[in-house]
Order: sequence, then C-alpha cells, then structure tokens
Amino acid sequence: MYLKVVFKSPENCIFCRQFLLAKTIKEELKQEVEQLKAAGKKVPHLAAVLVGDDGASQTYVASKVRSCERIGYESTLIRRDAKITEEELLQIVKDLNSDDAIDGFIVQLPLPKHIHVNRVIEAIDPAKDVDGFHPVNVGRMVMGLPAFISATPFGIMQLLERNHISTSGKHCVVLGRSNIVGRPMSVLMSRNAEPGNCTVTLCHSRTSNLKEETLRADILIVALGRPEMVTADMVKEGAIVIDVGITRVPDKSAEKGYVLKGDVKFDEVAPKCSYITPVPGGVGAMTVTGLLMNTLQAAKARYA
Ligand code: GUN
Repeated sequence: MYLKVVFKSPENCIFCRQFLLAKTIKEELKQEVEQLKAAGKKVPHLAAVLVGDDGASQTYVASKVRSCERIGYESTLIRRDAKITEEELLQIVKDLNSDDAIDGFIVQLPLPKHIHVNRVIEAIDPAKDVDGFHPVNVGRMVMGLPAFISATPFGIMQLLERNHISTSGKHCVVLGRSNIVGRPMSVLMSRNAEPGNCTVTLCHSRTSNLKEETLRADILIVALGRPEMVTADMVKEGAIVIDVGITRVPDKSAEKGYVLKGDVKFDEVAPKCSYITPVPGGVGAMTVTGLLMNTLQAAKARYA
C-alpha cells in the first residue's frame, strides 16, 4: 500500500515532493527577480565564504551558488585555505559588510578549529546575515519579530506551511540542540503562529528515555547527524517525520566511495508515517530555498 502512495504521481511521490516545492519557490523568486530587473533595480547578490576543503561543505556551497545563478541572482564565492587566520577571515567579513554590491552573505560552517565561530558570526552585519546566525537575528526570531531565520528551519517551516500540515496543538519532538537547526526549530514550532503552536520537547545527547520521548511525537524533527539512529520502534503510527541529518557513510561499492544517510532508518520508518522527508532529496532542497528567500528579503530591505 505504501509503495502505491509513493509512486502514484509526482505530487504524491515521497522522493519528488520536496523537489517540486523547492522548484515552485525558486520559480516565484525568479519571477520577482524579473520584476526587479524590469523596474531597473539591482538583482540580489549573495556571497559565500568557504574555508578549507571539506567535501560536504564544498558540495553545499556549490549548490547554493548554482541555485543563485539559476534564478537570476548574482553570486560571489570566496574560497580560502584552511590555514587562514581568524583576523584574515574577520577582515573578509568586514569587507563584505561594507561592500555595497553584496546584499547578503554566509560563512559556511564548520570552520577550522583554530577559528572562534562566534567571533565570526558576531562580526557579520545583521542586515546581511542571510543565514540568520547573528545574535540579533536569533533574538528577534525568539521574540517573534521580523528576522532572518536560519535557512534549514526556515525551509522546514515552508515545507509544513505549503503542504498544509497542521501543527497547532500537536506534540513536536526535536532531536538535536544545534544553533543551526535544533534550537531555532524548537522556538519556531512553539511560536504563537501556524505553523507553530506545538507543545515542544527538545531532546539531545543527554536525554534519558529517548524512545519514550520520540514515541510521543506527532511531529518528529531529527537533526543529530547520527546515521539511521531513529528506528521504526521509536516512531508513533501516523507521525510526521522530518529528517535533517545527512552524513557521508563510507561505502566501497558506491561510485563516490560513500553513500548519504539520514538520521532516520527510512525504509522501516516510512510505512508508519503520514508524511516523511527522505535523505537525500528532502530538507536539503528546502534549505537552499530558505537562503534564497532571505537573500531576496535582504536585497529588498536595502533598496526599499
Ligand atoms: N553548515 C551546515 N548548514 C549550514 C548553513 O545553513 N549555513 C552555513 N553557513 N553553514 C552551514
């Protein structure tokens, strides 16, 4: 029965619907860019700073830059060796802050260990912080004020909203307390709005009785980076499961030498769910759209 639902049409296909939604949002953004151009205005310009040669980070940043180009934004990629000093990186941030051509920028994480991540994030002009990592944006988000919301949580909220997934009154369990996903996700799901209005439990590496908690979830959002740790026995029948984890697991039989795994054991969990996002092809596509939406907002705010 499950397979029939999955493959009946692209809209129902578990592996297609996030792509279709991301495509729709990108089309909308592309049209907005056309309108800006027609009105003689500047198109949004996103810059990305990539430090070192981490394979996954390179892939993510390449995808962000490619998406910008496809929808008509300008993009700039600044690459630096992993040996860059903190001062040098802070100078790049300072230059981007004062560069009138740049509407928004991101510094891809993780950074090499010798660099204090928070010093870099705090140096970013909040008005150009399209990652929504700066304390000003985090604070405004917590207060329910207009803010840049970090791309993955923003993408997940879009996923819920545009799929008309009702959240009000539900119990949402978030696994993971990172600043990038888990923590902002827990705030957004508990805000007085739709989507939102959930009772939220935030679980992490020190949570005892994890299974007891996950079994209470109407909506389970998993962002731990632990491949396939959520198994069928941990999920309630009919739950909505959003898998944010994406880990390269070595596999000699794979062409690239690795396979991508989510935090959820998809094959056994999917049949229990009313909605689930696969890995790859799920939340990842929505993360990029979240960033593109923030960049358009940043550009509009600068030229309002
Ligand atoms: N590393 C993993 N996710 C992200 C993200 O959304 N933004 C940045 N800058 N780095 C990341």
